[in-house]
Amino acid sequence: MNTINLFSLVGKKAFITGGAQGIGKSAALAFADAGADVAIVDVDMGKAEGTAAELRAKGVRSMAVRCDVTDPADVDSMVGRVVEEFGTIDIAFNNAGICVNESAETMSFESWKRVLDINLTGIFLTARAAGRVMIAKGSGSIINTASMSGHIVNQPQPQCAYNASKAGVILLTKSLAVEWAHFGVRVNSISPGYIGTAMTLKASQWIPSWEAATPQRRMGKPEELVSALIYLAADSSGFTTGTDLVIDGGFTCV
Ligand SMILES: NC(=O)c1ccc[n+]([C@@H]2O[C@H](COP(=O)([O-])OP(=O)(O)OC[C@H]3O[C@@H](n4cnc5c(N)ncnc54)[C@H](O)[C@@H]3O)[C@@H](O)[C@H]2O)c1
Repeated sequence: MNTINLFSLVGKKAFITGGAQGIGKSAALAFADAGADVAIVDVDMGKAEGTAAELRAKGVRSMAVRCDVTDPADVDSMVGRVVEEFGTIDIAFNNAGICVNESAETMSFESWKRVLDINLTGIFLTARAAGRVMIAKGSGSIINTASMSGHIVNQPQPQCAYNASKAGVILLTKSLAVEWAHFGVRVNSISPGYIGTAMTLKASQWIPSWEAATPQRRMGKPEELVSALIYLAADSSGFTTGTDLVIDGGFTCV
């Protein structure tokens, strides 16, 4: 195996939840560049179709699938559609997520539940559905988007539901990795620091303090996560499972 092939995804079939924009879209472009067929899974079909069309314009096999990751029937049918179209699933990037900035003492039950449903239950449901396909064939790589917020408490913005959901993703990832290791299925997570996407740019009042608290004194770009994602997706990381890769410009060191 030469070093170029170490990062090859040629022949791999992938889906990405939250693939319409932001981190998911960057991953879709990178997975496709590395040779994979990529299904863009999202609730925002307008943007998902746009991303899938961008991939097809580059000659990549891609489709958009509408799926709300909080709905078990939706998730199972999305996985069925991807298998029907691509033949199998080798890579599942479970990445859809939201953040709500409400103080704990006034947060509504609906807000709490929505964040946990999308960020944590959604990852369980998509991992479970993809895992069944991968277990049946004895191989596969599942990557979950956690966050540095699963390790530390962000300031100044209140976001207890988000932080709790992401800490949950990190231990769910390790639990699945242990349960499924003997099936040949690997499960890992990434924990990004502040990354410039719609999620963070809409909270622009806090950006100066986030940058000041980051040793690199800036936010990251979605493209700065993709090499780690390709590494976790590729066969060359075959002995890597149950790990969480923190990519945060040094934020969690201080
Ligand atoms: N941006 C950051 O600083 C940062 C840092 C750490 C972790 N993350 C995580 O990265 C992931 C991607 O975030 P992003 O920054 O690209 O945000 P984003 O808002 O740009 O993208 C999120 C995507 O998820 C989709 N989505 C939301 N709810 C969904 C649902 N119920 N079912 C299916 N799709 C749904 C949205 O339509 C959107 O396309 C999230 O899990 C987020 O928590 C982001």
